[in-house]
Amino acid sequence: MKALGLLLALTISSVYGVDRNNFKTCDQSGFCKRLRPFKPEKSQYSLNLDTVLVHGNVLSAEVVTVDTGAEKRTILWHYTLRLSALVDGTFRVELDESDPLYPRYRTQLALNGEPKPDSLKLVSNENGRLTLTNNQGHKVVVTAEPLKIEFLDRSGEVAVVLNENSQLLVEPLREDENNWSENFKSHHDSKPRGNEAVSLDVSFLDAAQVYGIPEHTDGFALSTTSSGEPYRLYNLDVFEYELLSRMALYGAIPFMFAHGPKRSAGVFWHNSAETWIDVVNYADSTVVSSLVNLVTGGQKRRVDVRFMSESGVLDIFVMLGDTPADVFRQYTKLTGTTPLPPKSSLAYHQSRWNYVDEADVRGVDENFDAHDIPLDYIWLDIEYTDHKKYFTWDQEKFPHPSEMVANLTAKGRKMVVIVDPHVKREAGYFVHEDAIDNGYYVKDKDGKVYEGWCWPGSSSYMDFFDPVVSKYYSERYRYENFPGTSKDVHIWNDMNEPSVFNGPEITMPKDCRHYKTPQDGHEGLASYWEHRHVHNEYGLWNIKSTHEGMLNRDNGKYRPFILTRSTFAGTQRYAAVWTGDNMAEWGFLAASISMCLSLATAGISFCGSDVGGFFKYPEAELITRWYQAGAYQPFFRAHSHIETKRHEPWLYEPATTALIRDANRRRYALIDFWYTLFYELSVDGLPVMRPLLQEYPKEQETYTIDNEYLLGDKLLVRPVTEAGVTSVKVYLPGAESHTLWYDPDTYQQYQATGYINQPVTLSKIPVYQRGGTIIPRKERVRRSSVLMADDPYTLVVALDANKTAHGTLYIDDGETYEYRNNRYIYAKITYEPNLMTYTFVNERASYPTRSWLERIVIAGIKTPPKTAKLHQGDRQVALQMTLHRGNDVLVVRKPSASMAQPWTITFTY
Ligand SMILES: *[C@@H]1O[C@H](CO)[C@@H](O)[C@H](O)[C@H]1NC(C)=O
Ligand SMILES: *[C@@H]1O[C@H](CO)[C@@H](O)[C@H](O)[C@H]1NC(C)=O
Ligand SMILES: *[C@@H]1O[C@H](CO)[C@@H](O)[C@H](O)[C@H]1NC(C)=O
Repeated sequence: MKALGLLLALTISSVYGVDRNNFKTCDQSGFCKRLRPFKPEKSQYSLNLDTVLVHGNVLSAEVVTVDTGAEKRTILWHYTLRLSALVDGTFRVELDESDPLYPRYRTQLALNGEPKPDSLKLVSNENGRLTLTNNQGHKVVVTAEPLKIEFLDRSGEVAVVLNENSQLLVEPLREDENNWSENFKSHHDSKPRGNEAVSLDVSFLDAAQVYGIPEHTDGFALSTTSSGEPYRLYNLDVFEYELLSRMALYGAIPFMFAHGPKRSAGVFWHNSAETWIDVVNYADSTVVSSLVNLVTGGQKRRVDVRFMSESGVLDIFVMLGDTPADVFRQYTKLTGTTPLPPKSSLAYHQSRWNYVDEADVRGVDENFDAHDIPLDYIWLDIEYTDHKKYFTWDQEKFPHPSEMVANLTAKGRKMVVIVDPHVKREAGYFVHEDAIDNGYYVKDKDGKVYEGWCWPGSSSYMDFFDPVVSKYYSERYRYENFPGTSKDVHIWNDMNEPSVFNGPEITMPKDCRHYKTPQDGHEGLASYWEHRHVHNEYGLWNIKSTHEGMLNRDNGKYRPFILTRSTFAGTQRYAAVWTGDNMAEWGFLAASISMCLSLATAGISFCGSDVGGFFKYPEAELITRWYQAGAYQPFFRAHSHIETKRHEPWLYEPATTALIRDANRRRYALIDFWYTLFYELSVDGLPVMRPLLQEYPKEQETYTIDNEYLLGDKLLVRPVTEAGVTSVKVYLPGAESHTLWYDPDTYQQYQATGYINQPVTLSKIPVYQRGGTIIPRKERVRRSSVLMADDPYTLVVALDANKTAHGTLYIDDGETYEYRNNRYIYAKITYEPNLMTYTFVNERASYPTRSWLERIVIAGIKTPPKTAKLHQGDRQVALQMTLHRGNDVLVVRKPSASMAQPWTITFTY
């Protein structure tokens, strides 16, 4: 939702744009300013070969810093290095002080449990270099002095190097008389522990581009940062954020991958503190050739990056690919994948700040029916509460929440209400009183309850890091604690960066105190974490607690749906994400694609943007194009700012309403395709919304494409993000493998030939089904997706050059966890000229769906069969067929097979 809010919005109502003065540049961020110029000739870090120990999957050794300037070799500081081999070609490198003054923070929630080990063998130890290997044929070469770590791919070529540019740094904690504190605007940061930054350079050899580290607006492929600011990761509520910027945004996911024709590789910088990242792509025209020669010996295909974090330990995962899909799988193995969401949450959502009362909600609901536009969720923003006291309702405007929700659920619809993590400081408000009485709030630097300013006015913030607080908060979601809610009321956690209107950079001061698990002998500074250490994972703790609460309200029966604004590595395990407070401008529509692609590769597939834009009023053409794009993005929700003119679909000219209706109906027709993609995501962790390079890693044109994408490996989508165009350039990948692409409306066939000019009208955007795929559709679109559960399927078979195709279909009850007890169907569908089959991948699983097979459309057929016969159980039925178009589309009519049982169809010629 919104940011700095009404006050600001009113005063600058006609001037849009970010106020950069509210946010730090690298120069204004103490450690970034200190570290960015740090580039010694030679690294001070060296490994003590006498201390090397390889045990299980871990090499450990002492690392020391030596004063390279001194005449005699003087040791400055002692560190412990751990290098572990993990399954699937992943390695982990950790460097911590051997005996730190206080424990340094280790990020807690990003990993989905302890990563699984692979074996690590020491192959040789000679000439000051250790060579190690894992079970997968990767090698690691550790040079002792100065310390350098090289990772070799299976063919023995160096893929990734750490500390080649000598930028490794772990600032030791010291007791010092120094005044470490820093100021930003009127804000003071006491920095009680002093400097504790960590930094490391990573070189990706043979890489053409690097990607990832969302959330930024700067395009999918990252740019060279030498002239200008580094990319910044620090979860912030950036009011009216700008495009093509490396400024921090709401989300911070320190995962990056590199790709080139030779291979892909990735790194995950496991750190939740403020982080800045520099990128140098030697192929970039801005990088001077003398530097290219100096660093790479003239080799332009290489990207060097450098991570700098304010605190924590140095902890980095290196994922050796080989392909982009391998890296994405490796990363989601570490941080988890998206569990199966409620099926309805993949349908359309209607939101606004705010639907003002029950009559308004009813009116919106009825208007969707009156205009025959499908809808699954109506959302309530902050105004539904009693004066911004979450877990309450405004008694005047929403006196009958249960009845309101029941009215929606009667049509298969649902509701989402917002619950922000700030808590109104008001005597008598039960959440506040409980928090004060029991010490649940985050403390300030002096140990007193921290008070900030947010929507309710004076607010305090739950300290979710304390398990008691997290449990208390999760219990607020129980039906008895939040009357009016039911299993069909889902939750939106917004403002969870956290947003603090009067805080430094609109967030919490870094010297605020969070709970730390008590340890004997840890007092003073060692008895709490500072907000500085945990900032980027605050929102993750928030949604984890919400998730637990929503599960428990039904004893774990129903799948929760949660939307979060702030993100960190691992967010995908709990929530969907949207790109925050965007603007009704064409550039923001375009940015929704690159931003969601970046999030998808970093584990978060369930992504969308506010359809129509949050700020400003979208004109008819823009909102039409936005619905058409949103219908093909995972999270599909319209939302808008309280001061914008109402713009629900029926408030436009009838022609525009009709186009929006059509866009939404396209989404609903494909709802089972979406659901199947999300089932597959829950199993394999691969992005639903895919960059072209994932499926076509050798095609170099794809490396910088971020205005089109694939859904699974089946649909290619090219939203129209330009005003007034009659044609757009579309890249059709797969020329070398003779890929065919089909328009799903006309079944017109296209040979992949790279770029084409595709004529467009206002009625639809370019979408293509890949030849060789089968996609399930439901042609009877109803008021909500739930009402379509038993409807029949059409299978669209798009043939490849070999006249074959395959696809999948997932079916279950759409809302419970019964699929874990084998109550589901995951079917593989194959087509060959003589035989089409529908078989269950897991034969022990079943689901009594009442859906049946209504139609099969086979596109790209040259020689039509003479007969078709369905076989299901004992049943054998001769089927009717008709030919369409230039006789290259065959429709098999009413096979009427039950989708609850396997079937086959045989064809004769
Ligand atoms: C410490 O340094 C900060 C920032 O330079 C300054 O504002 C503050 O007054 C200093 N405090 C003391 C006790 O010297
Ligand atoms: C629920 O629907 C009924 C029938 O349309 C209507 O009379 C009632 O006002 C609705 N209740 C709410 C709270 O919207
Ligand atoms: C056709 O089949 C051959 C042999 O199995 C395979 O190599 C080729 O990739 C296939 N072509 C397409 C377009 O799928």
